[in-house]
Amino acid sequence: MSAVSHLNYGLWRHPDDWSWRHTELEHWTSLATTLEDGGFDTLFIADALGLLDTYAGNAAASLRTGTQSPLDDPLLAVSAMAACTRHLGFGVTVSTTYEHPYLLARKLTTLDHLSQGRIGWNIVTSQLDSAARNLGLAQQLDHDERYDRADEFMEVVYKLWEWSWTDDAVVRDRVRGIYTDPSKVRPIAHHGRWYRVPDAHLSEPSPQRTPLLLQAGGSPRGQAFAARHAELVFVAGAHAEGIRRGVEATRALAVQAGRGPRAIRFIAPVTVVTGADDREAGAKLADYRRHYDALGAVVHYAASTGIDFSTQDLDAPLVHRDTNANRSLLAHFTQDSTRDRPWTLREALDRPQGFGRHKTIVGGPARVADELQAWLRETGTDGINLAAIVNPGSFEDFAHFAVPELRRRGLVAERPAEPTTLRERVFGQPRLRADHPAHAIAARAGSASEVSA
Ligand SMILES: Cc1cc2nc3c(=O)[nH]c(=O)nc-3n(C[C@H](O)[C@H](O)[C@H](O)COP(=O)(O)O)c2cc1C
Repeated sequence: MSAVSHLNYGLWRHPDDWSWRHTELEHWTSLATTLEDGGFDTLFIADALGLLDTYAGNAAASLRTGTQSPLDDPLLAVSAMAACTRHLGFGVTVSTTYEHPYLLARKLTTLDHLSQGRIGWNIVTSQLDSAARNLGLAQQLDHDERYDRADEFMEVVYKLWEWSWTDDAVVRDRVRGIYTDPSKVRPIAHHGRWYRVPDAHLSEPSPQRTPLLLQAGGSPRGQAFAARHAELVFVAGAHAEGIRRGVEATRALAVQAGRGPRAIRFIAPVTVVTGADDREAGAKLADYRRHYDALGAVVHYAASTGIDFSTQDLDAPLVHRDTNANRSLLAHFTQDSTRDRPWTLREALDRPQGFGRHKTIVGGPARVADELQAWLRETGTDGINLAAIVNPGSFEDFAHFAVPELRRRGLVAERPAEPTTLRERVFGQPRLRADHPAHAIAARAGSASEVSA
């Protein structure tokens, strides 16, 4: 996130954390080169569109602890980072609930051009009432309705990205004085429940056309959305078994929707604390834990789940409630059949042997590689989203200590000699796979009478 504290609550107070420089372009360009040189495939940038004000009904605790506020826009640093790298991909978060598809299609096409095909889009439907209020609504749309709207949003962008311009529309014929052949630029004539977009895409096709599609919906409606649209799914969960169930459920839904079993790749967030050996890594973790701010964690959890935890006893069992915010985050803990007693808020938010709410691996290179290998096997995931504790220290440590060992075991690929698009890195081809529903949806473009469900 372009904030001092995304999931590493309180760590901005640590002398090795430089997140507070997120307002400086050099912070981002230097992070991008560190990641590219360190063997990372992609930089993922999360986002939200409002202050976190669920805890105690106001934003004071979030502002005081620096938890996801102040928060800057994630898209704007990407072109600068693309300019100083050749291989690194960029996964950027943009909300379908508050953007307009015609405008977002152009922004992401532009970034895909400028990065030569290295853009991924993390599709979110958002979860904060504070965002809704400031963007002209009395409150958020209903949880499932946000996904319905997102489905139509995707229809519009597929038509713009995949159908509106043919590959040979730009002819750049200096002799005949024709830049673009107008017969190859087609108005999409979209007329739906939420959106009306009559005309053609404003930009010519970019290397990937559609950016690599990332998504993280965990509720039944969110999983159905992922199964239809996503190419890379983040699966959150309290433990390996829960993540495996999420992977299997989404994969089964994707197959039902006519996609192949490998049409979606899965990754889960993992925190890694590493050093020259296990002892050094353990000492680092102890140091980080001294800077951890539990209030920041509760503030974030309250905002994500839509529940004001300011009066809840940290050691009382968590009780399930269906809210209009993020549903699956609470369900991971309240509907966990692998335990004989319910999770408490304290247990859910911080692992005593680790850091924060994600799986944490602590150790020297061999231990990290062993545990990561076991984790990938147990969860059925294809990779990890490394959640940093100190920025850029967590990335530098991973690159320096863990990556060489992971490379030796074939778990981190050697960088290709020539740069490729992000989708080629994941699927071996620059454009959407043939079994992606975008093709059929885009083919329905151009019929003015169409009304989406
Ligand atoms: C790794 C990961 C990253 C996420 N990043 C964001 C984000 O940047 N912005 C956001 O609004 N939601 C983000 N989410 C939340 C998801 O978009 C989604 O709302 C959540 O997983 C709950 O799904 P559900 O609404 O279907 O229950 C993220 C979730 C995960 C697991």
